[in-house]
Amino acid sequence: MLDEIARIQENAKNEIGSAGTLDRLEELRIEFLGRKGALTLILRGLKDLPEAERKKMGEEANRLRRKIEELLQEKELELRKTTSESILKKERLDVTRPGIKTERGHLHPITQVIREVNLIFVSMGFEIVEGPEIETEYYNFDALNIPENHPARDMWDTFWLLRNQKEAPSTKSQASKKSQKLLLRTHTSPVQIRYMEKHNPPIRIIAPGRCYRYEATDASHDIQFYQLEGLMVDKIISIANFKAVMREFLTRFFKTKIEIRLRPSYFPFTEPSFEVDISCITCSQKGCSVCKKSGWLELAGAGMVHPNVFKTVGYTTKDVQGFAFGMGIDRLAMMKYKIPDIRLFHSGDLRFLKQF
Ligand code: FA5
Repeated sequence: MLDEIARIQENAKNEIGSAGTLDRLEELRIEFLGRKGALTLILRGLKDLPEAERKKMGEEANRLRRKIEELLQEKELELRKTTSESILKKERLDVTRPGIKTERGHLHPITQVIREVNLIFVSMGFEIVEGPEIETEYYNFDALNIPENHPARDMWDTFWLLRNQKEAPSTKSQASKKSQKLLLRTHTSPVQIRYMEKHNPPIRIIAPGRCYRYEATDASHDIQFYQLEGLMVDKIISIANFKAVMREFLTRFFKTKIEIRLRPSYFPFTEPSFEVDISCITCSQKGCSVCKKSGWLELAGAGMVHPNVFKTVGYTTKDVQGFAFGMGIDRLAMMKYKIPDIRLFHSGDLRFLKQF
């Protein structure tokens, strides 16, 4: 067996020494050390030897294994070195060659519009605040005086988030008052509540953000869209203040005269409530798919904050009034850039996006 070990060692030395590639080296590793390799066969045969001889042969076999591993490692280092040297010899680096131009991206048109809207409102003294897109039923509906049977609570309008775990409100008293059921907010109005819970009047805020509704899409409706919430609360605030703020904003945003129309409407969290329509710039009020041939486009819901909302957020004094509005930011962008279909915003179509 000693002869056999010496023969394998000699063989390994020659073969490994003359290996020309890393692939060949791997083949040799398997040939000598693999499961069916020459050394493994020797190790397997050890069990048939008498005890004294078995020990000696075992030591010799292990010495051979270490030797072969050493030879393989040395050769691998040598091969790697010569390969990278030959690559370097073959390749040339031409530092004068012109580079590949990387395309510069730009902000999405909606982001551009949000930034422009923010700037105008900030210049009028409004603060920008944010709220979560995943809301609780309490903030999205209950706290806004929206009773359970209001159409806005219809399951077809709302993306509810299923929760397997039991609701886990932080205290027992909250459990009875504030539903923690989660949903994708259907409007930005919950931000009003979150802000008023923590701040006292005077308040002048806007809250831009994404909203979601489970509804059929068309040229002016999408399942996800952006709203701009506005809230102004003080001792004496009236609809006249609202109209002044709206007119100032729209004139500065569109840089042209826009007709506004206030239509009586209903929101449980405002009283009185109205819809704000603006004249359709896409068709100059001649009638198109965006304004559904009416010449007007509904831009915002608005109204004077309902006393129940003030009560909910803990304003005890009667000496407080305010207006609130929720404006469609996508619709603003559509009007400004004469975009005929709201769904283009999320289409990912570069032919559309590159125009901004
Ligand atoms: C609301 O969402 C109220 N929260 C607005 C409000 C705020 C009223 C504060 C009173 C006080 P409404 O559902 O009408 O209201 O939506 C407001 C605006 O969001 C619409 O005028 C429209 O511009 C935009 N909007 C609503 N649904 C969609 C939709 N599916 N796709 C695109 N824009 C939409």
